[in-house]
Amino acid sequence: MTPATATGEKMSVSASLEQKIVANEAVVGVVGMGYVGLPLASALHEGGLPVIGFDVDPSKIDALAEGTNYLKHLGDEMTKPLAASDRFEATVDFGRLGEADVILVAVPTPLGRHQEPDLSYVINTATAIGKTLRAGQLVVLESTTYPGTTRDEFLPAMLEAAKGHAPDLVPGRDFFVAFSPEREDPGRKSHSTSTIPKLVGGIDDDSTRLSAMVYRKGVEQVVEVSSAEVAEAAKLLENIFRAVNIALVNEMKVVLTEMGVDVWEVVRAAATKPFGYMPFFPGPGLGGHCIPIDPFYLTWKAKEVGRPTRFIELAGQVNTRMPSYVVDRTAWALNEHGKAVKGSKICVLGLAYKPDVDDTRESPSFEIIDLLRERGADVSYSDPLVPQTVPVRKHDLKMTSVELTPESLESFDAIVVSTNHADFDYALIAKHARLVIDTRDALRAFDAELGDRIVRA
Ligand SMILES: NC(=O)c1ccc[n+]([C@@H]2O[C@H](COP(=O)([O-])OP(=O)(O)OC[C@H]3O[C@@H](n4cnc5c(N)ncnc54)[C@H](O)[C@@H]3O)[C@@H](O)[C@H]2O)c1
Repeated sequence: MTPATATGEKMSVSASLEQKIVANEAVVGVVGMGYVGLPLASALHEGGLPVIGFDVDPSKIDALAEGTNYLKHLGDEMTKPLAASDRFEATVDFGRLGEADVILVAVPTPLGRHQEPDLSYVINTATAIGKTLRAGQLVVLESTTYPGTTRDEFLPAMLEAAKGHAPDLVPGRDFFVAFSPEREDPGRKSHSTSTIPKLVGGIDDDSTRLSAMVYRKGVEQVVEVSSAEVAEAAKLLENIFRAVNIALVNEMKVVLTEMGVDVWEVVRAAATKPFGYMPFFPGPGLGGHCIPIDPFYLTWKAKEVGRPTRFIELAGQVNTRMPSYVVDRTAWALNEHGKAVKGSKICVLGLAYKPDVDDTRESPSFEIIDLLRERGADVSYSDPLVPQTVPVRKHDLKMTSVELTPESLESFDAIVVSTNHADFDYALIAKHARLVIDTRDALRAFDAELGDRIVRA
């Protein structure tokens, strides 16, 4: 029923939701308690809102009830206050979505086998929400996707599922829908969910405004844009910008290395320019759930309007070739030391795709290990944050991390530094490694000590 105002008039659905948000009475449901959803739930809970976390993975729900954080880089200091709070609970029961006034969706948006967007998680979630959709709810999609998803796919899936019990609900009048991209960068210490400005674009003005009000509870700066499509495209532009610039510097690495010029020194030199340049550093290839994947969401959608995405595809080609470049350099370096790849014992350092996180999705280390094995090497890996491999999109290595000791380091013919975790003891590595192939410029401080035992790749 529509509540009445002090003067006895009927209050609009949006005004009533607004009132609940202001009073910290709007219950927020976060669907997908992963790298994005958990910190978001924590930030809004800290902002005073009651939060229910939804996930299909019961082990996450159990861990949250105990206050244990399965995202190691965020620590139990994030989950303990949630477990102790009477304003937070987590559940696998999606029938309870109707209890939430605001639903934020942070489920995976991977690629399918042919690099096509896999929106199945998003659509399944829309269907689950639709089943209990009611007047007065605000639903915000956070998962990265191409422009048009929220309005043309997410919303229709919700409406379709709502047909049975609430066929008359009108978006923008009875319930509200928006897109707000996540800019989480796991492992980055300088920013957190609450300090990264949040973009919000609704399917209409009320949806934008109400979403912005919710996020302002937990995020310092919220930027409203004119539509869901602008917010969707802005997120893709951010990630495409990174993919293209990483490809550019990786290409520079290959060319400059051939010329005998140190690309890392070149990048640092160029970065002294106070305007018009932003440093990107080369590496073993792209990893993570975002940069290697999201650009192809636009590539796929661009086909619909008959336009090519040449930069994106070229960047994809350059970056995808990097693991094989690293393996070629490793073969060259071993050869310089009188060894063949075949039969060599090689240890890859760092399985996570970037320093100081345990996330191995799309990590180029997997490809490097596979390629070295194809060439007959006996490959191990060491990663203090990833004690065992778990199956990822293209690889199931079934390996266990080895400990780095003077003896183990001396037993390897080569060490390939793929991910520069801060926890690695680089002094120990420099002292005992027979040969280091450094893709991250992690051992520069030990150049003199290493002499011809270090090669950058
Ligand atoms: N990880 C990042 O740094 C990052 C940054 C920005 C944007 N994103 C985007 O955010 C979205 C989520 O990414 P993530 O890294 O948090 O993924 P994640 O895999 O860490 O988390 C997703 C969670 O959703 C759960 N889940 C899967 N299917 C579900 C369903 N149908 N209903 C409810 N829960 C379900 C999973 O169990 C998991 O806990 C993706 O679109 C991603 O591109 C991620």
